[in-house]
Amino acid sequence: MIIDHLEEPLPGSSLRPTPAGSAYTDPAIFAAEQADIFEQLWNCVLRADSISTAGDWKKVTVGREELIIVRTRRAGIRAFYNVCQHRGMRVCTGDEGRARKLQCGYHAWTYALEGELVAAPNLTAMPDVDRREYGLKPVHLREWLGYVWVCLAAQPPDFDTEVLGEVRTRFGEVESIDNYGIEHLLLGETKTYDVAANWKLIIENFMECYHCATIHPELTEVIPEFADGLASQRKNGEVHGSSFGEDIQGFTVDGSAGVAALPAIAPDQDRKYYAITVKPQVFINTVPDHVIVHRMFPVSQSRTIVVCDWLFLPEVIHQSLPIEKSVELFHRVNQQDFEACELTQPSMSSAAYAGGGALVPSEHHIEEFHTWWRERLRGESRVAA
Ligand code: FES
Ligand SMILES: [Fe+2]
Repeated sequence: MIIDHLEEPLPGSSLRPTPAGSAYTDPAIFAAEQADIFEQLWNCVLRADSISTAGDWKKVTVGREELIIVRTRRAGIRAFYNVCQHRGMRVCTGDEGRARKLQCGYHAWTYALEGELVAAPNLTAMPDVDRREYGLKPVHLREWLGYVWVCLAAQPPDFDTEVLGEVRTRFGEVESIDNYGIEHLLLGETKTYDVAANWKLIIENFMECYHCATIHPELTEVIPEFADGLASQRKNGEVHGSSFGEDIQGFTVDGSAGVAALPAIAPDQDRKYYAITVKPQVFINTVPDHVIVHRMFPVSQSRTIVVCDWLFLPEVIHQSLPIEKSVELFHRVNQQDFEACELTQPSMSSAAYAGGGALVPSEHHIEEFHTWWRERLRGESRVAA
C-alpha cells in the first residue's frame, strides 16, 4: 500500500514529524491525491464573471479531468467533461471562447450550451439516439463568493456543510466571512504563478507564519505580530485576525493607505488581516479594503499552478482608483513564499529528508492538515479502488 511508510505524529514533543519526503515526490501518491482528494471534493475553478455572456466558455483542469465551464442561455453556468460522447475527441480546443453551440471538430457532433446533443451528421436517420444520454457529461457546480466551484464526485460532499459551514465557522471571532460581500467585488488584478513545488508544500507554507520574519519583510512591517513567528491567526483552533501595526494605514506594500474599507465589515474586522485555507485548493485572505483569493491547480507531484486574484469594490475598479500598492504587497508575499517552496521541493527526494522533517510548536496545527490528508488517502474511495 503506497501510504504505509507515512509517519504517524508523536504527541507530546516540541518537534513533531512531517510526512516523509516521498509524500511530496512519489507519482503514485500524487495519483492517489488526484483520485481521492481533488476528484472527490469541491474545487474553486474560476470567477463567474469571467464568463459573463451566454456562450462564453473556459476550460479548466480538475484532478486528471479537463472540463468546460460554460454560461448557458437558460440554465446559468454549467460544467461538463470536455469529452465528445461520439468517439471521445476534445470538444473545445483552446483555453476559452464564445460559441452558440459546442461542436466537436472530428465528426461534427454538436451540443447545446446546456449539454444536450442537438445535431450530428445523419442524426435524423438515427431516431433511437437519446439526445440527453449522448449529451456532454455534466459535473456538479455551485457558485459562491463570485466563483464557480465544481465537484467531480458522483455524490459530492454537501457544499453547505463542507465548504460554507466550515469557512463561516472558522472565520473566528467575527460572525462570518459574509461581511466582506466577496460575491459583489470585482477583479482588480490576477496573477498566475507556475510553482515548481508539490501542492502540500504550498498549503503548509500558507498555514504557518514561522517563516514570516525571515522571508516577508514587507508583510511583517504591516503586521508586526507576524514577526513573532506565531500563526497568530489561529488560537484555540479558530482563525483570529492579525492586527496592522500602529503606524500602518493600509494593507499596502509600504503601509500607506489603501482604498475605502468594504462597507459592511465589523469593527473587529477593521485594521485586521484574516486568512483561511479551504481545503483542498483555496486560500482566502481578507483585509479591510480588499480580498485576495488563491486557487491551486496541482499539475504533478512537483508542479502546481496558483492563480491569485485581488478583489475590490466595484467603484474602486470603475473609477480606476490606485490598487497597485495593495496588489504589490501580496504579490511579493506570493513570490517569497513560492520561492521558498521551490527551494524546498528538490530536498523532498534527498536521502537526508527520507524520514521527513519537523514541525515546531507554532506549526503543530499543520498536523491537522496532515491528518486530513492521510485520512483522505485511506478513505473508502481508495480502498474500493
Ligand atoms: S468524436 Fe466528436 S464527433 Fe466524433
Ligand atoms: Fe508566507
